[in-house]
Amino acid sequence: MARTPLIAGNWKMYLSLAESVALGQAVAASCAGLTDREVMIAPTCAVLSTVAGAIADSPVILAAQNVAWEQEGAFTGESSPVTLKDIGVSMAILGHSERRHVFYETDEMVNQRLLGALDFGLKPILCVGELLEDREQGQTFEVVQKQLSKGLQGVTAKQLEQVVVAYEPVWAIGTGKTASKEQAQEVHAFIRGKLATLYEKKLAEKIRILYGGSVKPENVDSLMAQSDIDGALVGGAALNPDSFDRIIHFI
Ligand code: 13P
Repeated sequence: MARTPLIAGNWKMYLSLAESVALGQAVAASCAGLTDREVMIAPTCAVLSTVAGAIADSPVILAAQNVAWEQEGAFTGESSPVTLKDIGVSMAILGHSERRHVFYETDEMVNQRLLGALDFGLKPILCVGELLEDREQGQTFEVVQKQLSKGLQGVTAKQLEQVVVAYEPVWAIGTGKTASKEQAQEVHAFIRGKLATLYEKKLAEKIRILYGGSVKPENVDSLMAQSDIDGALVGGAALNPDSFDRIIHFI
């Protein structure tokens, strides 16, 4: 069975409430008539509820940029998966490089968040990716493998069907330096192979693996033409309705 491509916009901590609503509406309009691909947006937490209203009548999938592993409790600054679901969120980005490197989230924390998301019915996007120094030292596969296997610890085969993986080389994020299509495909194939080892080949073939890191209208077509690239996790270019529209309509 072919994998349905997923084009995902990570808005990070950008855009006012009004700008978020306007962009949500623009993305909804871009999706009119699209049946062969899925489109997701992840606005900053504070505007999720309002954006949910703005895209309510569209197929646009709403995601959170992180999620707590418990339903409720003394977790200042965190968002409950149950509350997120209540307001219309159905996916969550987890282990983004900014969470790992700016906020020091460990593989163990990412794993807890991922298990919690699955328990409460949110589909996780598990982000993995190496630093520039890792790549220069030939450590790319080792780093990606560790983040993947630790992130998926305790996830059953049945649960894995709900998981999306995103490969985001840290050196390509927000730098304008995209991984070449060959570099990206090489790591995506490695990730799929690793999933086949951790689970089984047939299941690994079903899992979507997104590429993220300076995806733009100019490079999306060649990236999406790679056999193991099933979508894009887009930062900067997702903030501009025209750029994101073009990315959604990759050929
Ligand atoms: P850019 O597309 O701005 O490089 O960001 C990628 C990213 O971090 C998406 O999660």
